[in-house]
Amino acid sequence: MRIAVFASGRGTNFASIARAVKKGRVKAGLALLVCDNPRAGVLGRARRAGVKVALVERKDFSTKAEFENKIIQFLEEEKIDLIVLAGFMRILGPGLVAKYRNKIINIHPAILPCFKGAQAIKDAFDYGAKVTGVTVHFVDEKTDHGPIILQQAVKISPSDTLESLEAKIHKIEHRLYPRAVKLFVEGRLSLAGRQVKITAPEAPPAPPRGLK
Ligand code: GAR
Repeated sequence: MRIAVFASGRGTNFASIARAVKKGRVKAGLALLVCDNPRAGVLGRARRAGVKVALVERKDFSTKAEFENKIIQFLEEEKIDLIVLAGFMRILGPGLVAKYRNKIINIHPAILPCFKGAQAIKDAFDYGAKVTGVTVHFVDEKTDHGPIILQQAVKISPSDTLESLEAKIHKIEHRLYPRAVKLFVEGRLSLAGRQVKITAPEAPPAPPRGLK
């Protein structure tokens, strides 16, 4: 299976997935980074990890459809099976979502459906929430909406600052996202409406009778 990560920023989630692939915990190829921001830290991480980079800037295309067609061209060239959105700060258009239906996953730094949008950690903090967290979900046509694969809650304690909360959330993201990618790659996710069922790994074969 061949994976493309889409990212616009620092790329710490990209790095956590690259590490899981390198260590063999996720048995797939990290074939491509799609990035829309020439100043993004993730570009250096991809180059250091030896991952091919497609830098595609929205300003170079007159329509969103043309921008996404260019991205699709890269995805097809690299025969991508799974798209992993990791801080890609753009809403995907219906063409791309339909073409890769149930093959695009996203990480969001809150417990969806609470605190959708681009500043979810700050929004939860400013709101005075006592609990927030991380969600990994399939992507559909609506923003931060598709079926939920994994979620993990985080307590916001009275001593937390926005910075300490961000650090807690990122720490969870870096464990949760590689786990979700692994489940997808191992074919252990199935969908029924909004429900994502996670099947257990196959049990190893029983030892032959009589052997201790
Ligand atoms: C992550 O916290 C991710 O959850 C968030 O962007 C950050 C990217 O960090 N995504 C969203 O807010 C999407 N709505 P990274 O570049 O260090 O991986």
